[in-house]
Amino acid sequence: MKRLLKGGRLVDPAHGVDGVRDVLIDGDRIARVGRDLPADGAAVVEIPDGLVVCPGFIDMHVHLREPGQEHKETVATGTAAAVAGGFTAVACMPNTNPVNDEANVTAYILAKAAEAGLARVYPVGAVSRGSEGELLADIAELKQAGCVAITDDGHPVKTALLLRRALEYAGMFDMPVIEHCEDPSLKGDGVAHEGYHAAMLGLRGISGACEALGVERGVLLAEMTGSHFHVAHMSARASLRAVRHAKDAGLRVTSEVTPHHFTLTDEWLASPVPYDTNVKMNPPLREAADRDAMLDGLADGSIDVIATDHAPHHYDEKNVEFDRAPFGIVGLETAVPLSLDRLVHSGLIRLPRLVELLSVNPARILRVPGGSLSEGAVADITILAPELGVHVDASAMRSRSKNTPFDGWDLRGGVAATIVGGRTLFVNPAVSLAV
Ligand code: DOR
Ligand code: ZN
Repeated sequence: MKRLLKGGRLVDPAHGVDGVRDVLIDGDRIARVGRDLPADGAAVVEIPDGLVVCPGFIDMHVHLREPGQEHKETVATGTAAAVAGGFTAVACMPNTNPVNDEANVTAYILAKAAEAGLARVYPVGAVSRGSEGELLADIAELKQAGCVAITDDGHPVKTALLLRRALEYAGMFDMPVIEHCEDPSLKGDGVAHEGYHAAMLGLRGISGACEALGVERGVLLAEMTGSHFHVAHMSARASLRAVRHAKDAGLRVTSEVTPHHFTLTDEWLASPVPYDTNVKMNPPLREAADRDAMLDGLADGSIDVIATDHAPHHYDEKNVEFDRAPFGIVGLETAVPLSLDRLVHSGLIRLPRLVELLSVNPARILRVPGGSLSEGAVADITILAPELGVHVDASAMRSRSKNTPFDGWDLRGGVAATIVGGRTLFVNPAVSLAV
């Protein structure tokens, strides 16, 4: 079955394209991209003015919680949230129960993903057995089972020696090590960014230096091993400084930032709802100078990726004292509206740069298909409605958990449709599009 997407603005930075093009989809592949393509028996889908056709978005930092914490999320509910949020693929973190530190767990996740048949799922394996930081996991086994990277996310890799070994092994298998950068001794039992607001509220602090130390350690070991070190959910300006130095020195260091870290600051600890556990995440929301540094890094190219750190938690788990609540918020269904509103409509970046951050670069970092609309490539396509008014309604989210600080927000820009392997898996009812 062939379909011709006709007349849309196509943004494909991998090919330097930003203009009106048609896309011919044949089965699960892109057959042709060009101007005024003939229908040739294909079903013609008119792309209304104002919509933008992009290579499918890839969220490289998602917690799907399965196996073991299905009350928070499952592969099925998480991938449903992904396609509703415009993501054709997600990479899922190994801090499940059991931890994804062996082929059986990876295979289980991939089987659940195939059963759901929604977004593509790329499992990320653990660096260490049980992510406990003692013994290295069998990285060859994880790679063979389908893992695309390794991490002990939720925590930093316990010792510098273990991180060195992880980089050496991951390098042999051409995988990045994704690091949750944090110095545990400095973090202590901190729960919020160390600054004015935490002090006023009596909350124990987590300094920016706590993260930056973890980044500096990884950069030094990336230099030593020559392997690819990726900084997860970067939040502190000192971390960005270290990443810039590493890039200037030509090291294989990449980084990601979340929508909440480029949108919110630690003022949200105090108002509008003091001690709102939906603004508790790790790393924490930081002060304005840090948030602004993240915006600079997104604009100047020193940050490679926007990733959500989608971290679903059940209402009952979050509905406790701030100190006792788990870290994390859901992000899959708000990332694109926040990115369009805060980055593109604010004038900070243009759409091709956004597509680099959400598609080209995550595909390149994880060495997975996608990131461009090449002829012969998989037909993974995200169609944006940049002018669409979006009202965030947590209760209507596909995710099994609703822990978001953005409930009730009105944003400019949303997702029109999500196509994975040629199959349309989401169409926004607010957009008239019969794709
Ligand atoms: O906020 C967070 N939530 N940060 C992490 O590092 C882990 C994550 C989770 O798994 O809930
Ligand atoms: Zn993390």
